[in-house]
Amino acid sequence: MKQDKLVYVETFGCQMNVSDSEKIVTLLRGLGYNPTSESSRADLIILNTCSVRAKAEQKVYNILNNYKGLKRQNRRLILGVGGCVAQQEGERLLAKVPHLDLVFGTHNLHQLPALVRGAEAGQRQAEVAFIDTETRLNLFPADETEGGVTRFVTVMQGCDNFCAYCIVPHVRGREISRRSADILDEIAAMADRGVKEVTLLGQNVNSYGLKSEGELDFAGLLRSVAVIDGIERIRFTTSHPKDISPGLIACFAELPKLCSHIHLPAQAGSDVVLSRMDRGYSRTEYLAKIAALRSARPDIHITGDMIVGFPGETDADFAGTLSLLEEVRYADLFSFIYSARPGTKAAGFDDEVPREVKQERLLQLQDRQRAMTLELHRSLVGSSQEVLVEGVSKRGDQLYGRSSGNRIVNFAGGEEMIGTFVPVTITRAYQNSLLGELSKQ
Ligand code: SAH
Ligand code: SF4
Ligand code: F3S
Repeated sequence: MKQDKLVYVETFGCQMNVSDSEKIVTLLRGLGYNPTSESSRADLIILNTCSVRAKAEQKVYNILNNYKGLKRQNRRLILGVGGCVAQQEGERLLAKVPHLDLVFGTHNLHQLPALVRGAEAGQRQAEVAFIDTETRLNLFPADETEGGVTRFVTVMQGCDNFCAYCIVPHVRGREISRRSADILDEIAAMADRGVKEVTLLGQNVNSYGLKSEGELDFAGLLRSVAVIDGIERIRFTTSHPKDISPGLIACFAELPKLCSHIHLPAQAGSDVVLSRMDRGYSRTEYLAKIAALRSARPDIHITGDMIVGFPGETDADFAGTLSLLEEVRYADLFSFIYSARPGTKAAGFDDEVPREVKQERLLQLQDRQRAMTLELHRSLVGSSQEVLVEGVSKRGDQLYGRSSGNRIVNFAGGEEMIGTFVPVTITRAYQNSLLGELSKQ
């Protein structure tokens, strides 16, 4: 087979898409396409898209528009869209974008090779039908990516929670858990290739295994990963507060390999808003879980997601969000302006918060969080952190890695340290990272 065709894959959205893009690259290699980082040289361009907010979706259309010129220059260029916008729009996307060749949904990665072959023969097609669970379980290609100190491992996909604002259950479909035996085999093979840290990935990892008879639950899965030789660190994302079980909290007390970090999105700090969001927990219940996690692992760093301007959010509701920040003291927070998504329950709510109010609330929230993150980073100055060294920093003169609490740490050291754990004494705090030096042993 000729190996001289190039594919450019551009990824948007969450880690699930990053992971899917790696699988897309593997599938396309099988067709003779090698990855390139320059879209202008590509024979095939794939956009792996996100539709979680209107802005993310709009970006896809802007980029597709920009590729019109490339298509004009190279009539044989194939342009494809996958991921969550593809799932949402399906055939409509082909109608809206005349220079687009193929569309594949979130369950249809395995059909991509056939779609590309079709496009090579001049066809325009969309495949966005959801696939049944059994077929999907057999479709998870094993991750055989060489190298890397840290890897993500998909343990479940989809989401059954239907939070009122969220498009994910609509575009990713029903929740399925991968077989634990397959996951554990995959991680053991990664350990053999030198991987030191794995992040178990899913839209809602806490409900892993609960709907599959005879399967491990998430705490059981963590315990099984923890006994794999060579894997020194375990992380997971994302957690839903309502599904954090006592068994999972106990893992933070009992599994030293489990890192001191949890991403636990609250989304709002007021009970009225939480209930209208259909989140399934109250502010008090959320705080009780945080307290239990801190008691199991006192130095745990907590990060979260927050939405401002959900329909009907009053000043008092927003004050509840701000005060939640003070009580939790997040290490980091991803905050978003509410964006109505087609087909979701909240899209039908009519008490919209004015745009300026939403923007003002976002700024206020982000200002407060920035100050708290910096405060946390300053409190770490003088401490020694165990850092898993991941590589050479962008500036080229330092190494970078992460602490157990998921803070980025830069320090001077030799490249032979990549892939090892080193103790680093923190000397300086920045907004987004820490600077340190190797601790004297
Ligand atoms: N549980 C998921 C969350 C995916 S969406 C996971 O696996 O990460 C990531 C974040 O986007 C959510 O936590 C939420 O804060 C935000 N988000 C989702 N829908 C949104 C919307 N309609 N408007 C604004 N932000 C939204
Ligand atoms: Fe969306 Fe809620 Fe599911 Fe997360 S848990 S993906 S926010 S529906
Ligand atoms: Fe976006 Fe889809 Fe992930 S909507 S956040 S890419 S699951």
